[in-house]
Amino acid sequence: MSGFKYIVETKNLVKRFGDVIALKGVNFKVRNNEIVGLVGDNGAGKSTLVKIIAGIYAPDEGEILIKGQAFRRLTPQKAYELGIVLVHQERTLSENHTIWRNIFMGRELTGPFGFLRIKEMRDTATKLLKEIGLKAMSADTPVKYLSGGYKQGVQIARALCFEADLVILDEPTVQLSISEVQRVLEYVLELKKRGKSCIFISHNIYHVYPVADRFVLLDRGKIVAEFMKADLTPEDLSHIMVSIARTGKIPVEYEKINLIRGGQE
Ligand SMILES: Nc1ncnc2c1ncn2[C@@H]1O[C@H](COP(=O)(O)OP(=O)(O)O)[C@@H](O)[C@H]1O
Ligand SMILES: [Mg+2]
Repeated sequence: MSGFKYIVETKNLVKRFGDVIALKGVNFKVRNNEIVGLVGDNGAGKSTLVKIIAGIYAPDEGEILIKGQAFRRLTPQKAYELGIVLVHQERTLSENHTIWRNIFMGRELTGPFGFLRIKEMRDTATKLLKEIGLKAMSADTPVKYLSGGYKQGVQIARALCFEADLVILDEPTVQLSISEVQRVLEYVLELKKRGKSCIFISHNIYHVYPVADRFVLLDRGKIVAEFMKADLTPEDLSHIMVSIARTGKIPVEYEKINLIRGGQE
């Protein structure tokens, strides 16, 4: 990947739902091989922003640049072709199908007469599961028998299988046990090792902090702050989030490391 600095860049995105303005002019960027923690309270607009990037919603205003190419809007198919995979908050696996079937769903490998190349798909799935540390389970296991954390893993395996360049995880750790959360965090670090980019949405700072390189704080449809991880501790981040929720502002002592007003971009 070269010739562009950002895998995704949005310019002045505005999105309205009737009277609600979910996004009020959002400029958001993700670099190559960067993990961005997108944080903010419920209703801040996080899911809306990533759904626009993944082509699910069309913005009312603004544009989206993917690898330097500008679009007024994307479709899910176009976003997919450009290497963007959104792992939804909502369930998107087919419960009665096996792990390997789910990994290849909609993208089945077929032979010259349209026959499914089952062995190749199972072998590839098994290899991928092993690579991301999901080796205990057979690729023939139906998805309905998997835990929530394992399901997230299967979705990430699916994204990796299609060589996604940007994997978007929207609240992947909600309703997971502590050990499952650790698993999900390991998958994210695996994406980083493989040179991919990731947008990780969570309102649990302790889940997003260990994996993110940079944090973007969204509040009521606007990006209000942006920090490099090296500049703050999880406690600082927590403190800032509480302040934004209470007063709509970040504490003044953090302004000098806030990249939005620090003019470092
Ligand atoms: N499909 C929709 N129809 C109507 N309003 C929506 C829809 N999706 C989101 N909203 C509204 O847009 C705002 C932002 O929502 P959302 O992007 O889901 O926030 P977050 O993911 O940060 O919790 C909220 O006020 C929400 O109610
Ligand atoms: Mg959401």
